[in-house]
Amino acid sequence: MDHVLDCSGYEIAKTDIVRAEGAYLFDAGGRRYVDFESGVWCTALGHNHPAVRDAIRAQLERVSHLGYRVESSLAEDAAVAVLDTLPFPDGKCVFLASGSEAVELAVQITRRLTGKPLLLSLADSYLAAYGSAARRDLSEWHLFDWRECAGCPRAAGCSAECIRLRAVPFDRIGGFAFEPGNAGGTVRLPPRGLVRRLAGSVAEHGGLIVVDEVTTGLGRTGLWYGYQHYDLAPDLVALGKGLGNGYPVSCVAMTRAIGARLEKDRFHYAQSHQDDPLGCVIARTVIETLRCEGLIERGARTGDVLRDGLQTIARTHDTVREVRGRGLMAVVEIEETGRTDPVTPLFRKLLDRGFLVGCKPAASLLRFYPPLGISNDDVGGLLTAFDEVLGEEP
Ligand SMILES: Cc1ncc(COP(=O)(O)O)c(C=O)c1O
Repeated sequence: MDHVLDCSGYEIAKTDIVRAEGAYLFDAGGRRYVDFESGVWCTALGHNHPAVRDAIRAQLERVSHLGYRVESSLAEDAAVAVLDTLPFPDGKCVFLASGSEAVELAVQITRRLTGKPLLLSLADSYLAAYGSAARRDLSEWHLFDWRECAGCPRAAGCSAECIRLRAVPFDRIGGFAFEPGNAGGTVRLPPRGLVRRLAGSVAEHGGLIVVDEVTTGLGRTGLWYGYQHYDLAPDLVALGKGLGNGYPVSCVAMTRAIGARLEKDRFHYAQSHQDDPLGCVIARTVIETLRCEGLIERGARTGDVLRDGLQTIARTHDTVREVRGRGLMAVVEIEETGRTDPVTPLFRKLLDRGFLVGCKPAASLLRFYPPLGISNDDVGGLLTAFDEVLGEEP
């Protein structure tokens, strides 16, 4: 493309995708590809899902955008639908457009309510493309590097007396911004004991628990939310990606107590696409569809099949260093064995066989985040193709 700035940092692998449906992308020649990235981990219901498509069509005929001075009940309906999936009775929501915006707003709220200078996050979190959470300047953030905790024999009963935890300035920390397991698309799963200890200490010092569920939310990890694997009680939850199934809508959901404090405090936040009727209708429809089609349970079962298959492949190929996953998000780390980038050739060969997977050369990994309703046949096809390409000469 001549007039579109090439700035994503990713090499373009296919230029002529003209249609998408379910787990499939179709190119101009009619060739089909199975999308194991769900776009950028967004189309959890599958591309062009009929329920979402119909909801968009119907809402477009009515009103898609309003503004600050007029209201539609559609935002209230979407808020009720989101809050129904969370332990936030009588909570509040704000709908925005992107995941980064939702995380940034949650960060701004946390700073405003606690007045403390720092926020805590795990060092391998992504959190956002812009703003404080993206910069993670050390004057505003304490980044906890948990790599050594991964093999810690005391991880389950992680103690506040541990030297690594004693180094965390909890009294200056206003919140813990936790990305439960996506770790910037590398699927690193921090120990439960550690996460609970960090969250507990932040809360004991008056801080808030902010969970970034932009990628892990709405079923990706086999449960509604990634934080449920850690048994946390969040104060704020940021949602995006899957909430719009490809349409840009995101949300910050908060407990009743946080909402009440913000209203009392006359907290202001305004942007053009806030509580837009179209995005709100889509968010509500996505949540209803996840429930009606039992997609979260289905994704959890398919995730087991995918991970088991990848583990079996790993046992027969020395080039596979590790398989990690939870629910329907999985990665395979490949040994570097002297090659600078062993994963891009595998990515290209899988694409030649009709499978679009994620590829992160900097972490030497391939990634699999397909739609939650993907069939076992398509997962089987991917596993067969992956086994073959690993067996070929590099
Ligand atoms: C965990 C997490 N949080 C936030 C974001 C930012 O979302 P967006 O790209 O929609 O701004 C991403 C994007 O990949 C993410 O993975």
